[in-house]
Amino acid sequence: MAKAKTKAKTKAKAKTKARNIFLVLLICSIGGIGVSWGWNTYGNEMPGVSGFTGEDSPLDPSPKLTVMLNGSDVSQTCSAHYEEGQIYVSALPLLEQLGVAVLAPSPSASSSSKTLWAVTKDHELHHSLGTTQISLDGKTLTLEYPSILEGDNVYVPPSFFEIISAGQLSQEIDEINMNLAVLVESSRLQALNDKKNTPYFHADHLFRYADYVKKNPDLNMEKVIIYVNANLDKPFYTDVSVIVQPEDILVLCNKYNQFPDGYVPKDLKNVGSGFLLRAEAAEAYQKMTQAAAEHGVFFRLRSAYRSYREQQGLYTNAVARQGTSQADLYSARPGYSEHHSGLAIDVTIPTNVSGSLASVRFENTPQFAWFQQHAHEYGFVLRYPSDKVSVTGYAYEPWHYRYVGTDTAKTLHAQELTLEEYFAMEQGE
Ligand code: DAL
Ligand code: ZN
Repeated sequence: MAKAKTKAKTKAKAKTKARNIFLVLLICSIGGIGVSWGWNTYGNEMPGVSGFTGEDSPLDPSPKLTVMLNGSDVSQTCSAHYEEGQIYVSALPLLEQLGVAVLAPSPSASSSSKTLWAVTKDHELHHSLGTTQISLDGKTLTLEYPSILEGDNVYVPPSFFEIISAGQLSQEIDEINMNLAVLVESSRLQALNDKKNTPYFHADHLFRYADYVKKNPDLNMEKVIIYVNANLDKPFYTDVSVIVQPEDILVLCNKYNQFPDGYVPKDLKNVGSGFLLRAEAAEAYQKMTQAAAEHGVFFRLRSAYRSYREQQGLYTNAVARQGTSQADLYSARPGYSEHHSGLAIDVTIPTNVSGSLASVRFENTPQFAWFQQHAHEYGFVLRYPSDKVSVTGYAYEPWHYRYVGTDTAKTLHAQELTLEEYFAMEQGE
């Protein structure tokens, strides 16, 4: 009966719907988020199933699952099951709804040889329960994780339906536009969902956010979104991009963004003692120096523009002295230094001031206090603050300031943001 009904419905649908079949897994109240993912797009990284397994799952221990078939909640007949981070759907009712006759598992068979045997006029499918192997018309196909038999229910990974639809097990499957969704409600992902309206939420980063949630359980969702947008879920110096507009005053140069080969800023100016800065930064620097002097605060430069070669020398020496991981905390790799931009300065106290830097830490000097209060007024920001080491990838450098222009500097200063966070918050859709 049910089968005949399904067939009739299917035929009607077939006239209007594309012959294209796809499976969609919707995670969390993703219906609410309003995004969906085509199964094939993610390949091996199919999120929510293979991506979140075992103890590492960012989901609750028992998230609520809802099975949707072509927009209708069919959970009553086709239940879903969540076990050890993996999602299963009840195969038999779904197969029946799809017009496939299922002739197994046979109750009399021993548990080790229980086979799901499904046939249509033209096709034949065998699947040994508890394994990943499917045989469709003699061709072997593989599930991403084994099915399970629980009582009379056969639970399969949702990809089972993708596999059999690709194999065109049934004419009906070929004709309908089948949209299978497993909705997973999880309070942790729900918290992420609550943030979906933040302007910087990227729907296509959802699974990276979820993964980051799992690795950083104490981080609030806002930070999760910002940090992932800033690529912080990836190890430093991996997935590196070449900076497209290196001459932009707001250029973001860090452990994910490097200057193009051979880049040398065109408008470098000498700001004294041979230190070079780009014209706009040089002018701001002169103004800042003058204003500080008027307040009786004097400082000098220790570094400004550095070429690729200079940075290479510094970094190589640092590695030789301290080893790579320590060197990476203080020294940028060549091509990745802000000094390469011609927009960064390292400041220090003048040589004629008593107490050398060896005995006075720069952050304890009146010069530093003045920079803290006024640098942003001239377009400079403290680039590597003590509480943002995990964001910038660099240890605290109270002496390193970056020119970004007064508007941005004031924003970054007022909101206590690094450039990484600033861009991660701006980029949203
Ligand atoms: N010391 C900073 C991070 C640089 O090497 O650019
Ligand atoms: Zn520096």
